[in-house]
Amino acid sequence: MSEAQGHVFSLENDLALELVRVVEEAAIASARTMGEGDRDKSDQVAVQAMRKAFENIPFAGNIVIGEGERDKAPMLYIGERVGATPPPGIQFPEVDLAVDPLEGTNLCALGTPNAISVLAASEKGGLLHAPDCYMEKIIAGPACRGSLDIEAPVEDNLKEIARCMDRRVQDLVIVVLDRPRHAQLIADIRKAGARIRLIPDGDLSAGIAVAVRGAGVHAVMGIGGAPEGVITAAAIRCLHGAMVARLVIDSPQLEERVVSMGIRDPKRIYSARHLAPGKHIVFAASGVTDGALLRGVRFFGEGCRTHSLVMTRSVNKVRFIDSVHLETGPGPRGIRLN
Ligand code: FBP
Repeated sequence: MSEAQGHVFSLENDLALELVRVVEEAAIASARTMGEGDRDKSDQVAVQAMRKAFENIPFAGNIVIGEGERDKAPMLYIGERVGATPPPGIQFPEVDLAVDPLEGTNLCALGTPNAISVLAASEKGGLLHAPDCYMEKIIAGPACRGSLDIEAPVEDNLKEIARCMDRRVQDLVIVVLDRPRHAQLIADIRKAGARIRLIPDGDLSAGIAVAVRGAGVHAVMGIGGAPEGVITAAAIRCLHGAMVARLVIDSPQLEERVVSMGIRDPKRIYSARHLAPGKHIVFAASGVTDGALLRGVRFFGEGCRTHSLVMTRSVNKVRFIDSVHLETGPGPRGIRLN
């Protein structure tokens, strides 16, 4: 890590709380639009707020997963540099960033659960530069590490997950995105006897929930976004969970693009460690709407309250942060306990 003004930079210790502020700002901005039915607006305000919040952080941030390519995304595009401007003669430390300012744009636009603002940070090269395509994923908790097999039949994976978690297949709850492409997967899970939670969107927050005991869900299976897959992998590494994944390459053009991005084997099976190989990782998320792990933003007369999660891999910390953001003072009634 680089040194600036005598201070040895520690990505995890120095950035964890700074990055919470970034997801908090994006969550607050998008939560203001909750239920307006305008997903583009919800996304746009989250992007703007996240971009602005980065300007206060003394680092040389490099977006490796963001809102898309430069020509399509005006802000937080892949390759964009973010962070504060360094004073003359000072070089800020380089940090790679994977961001999703609003994960679950429809969820926010409709006011339904589990929309979050989220990002992952790592040293240069610590997060896979994944193309914006689909990814097949199986995600589960720490007990299942080394036991998931993306090439095995659904029933075999479910039996293995049940064995690792010391329960019956019937006692598992599997999260699946509610999409026509999952008809066979859903049929296979039902046939094996496991229970299913179909979600309209948001396989990233579901992927975190399955790695946390007590969330009531035990695995995510199916196809979702590859960028979301990389950010999930960063969280899974901090939670010591289990994940296997494979890009869904369904056209020669996509295969060409993937190869041009430096991915030599498009059929490669990835673990969380391959998707987020960084030694140092910070994962931060803030609830936009209420969800299994995080509460959504609550507004009141004097400001608002956010609920966030920040995790670090090598420093091994998982922090839930409940913040009160006061626009004025606490008001005559004071701050509520919770
Ligand atoms: P957005 O926030 O970009 O709308 O993504 C939501 C999401 O549900 C992700 O959680 C998931 O990985 C992906 O979309 C699935 O894509 P699709 O909606 O095309 O099936």
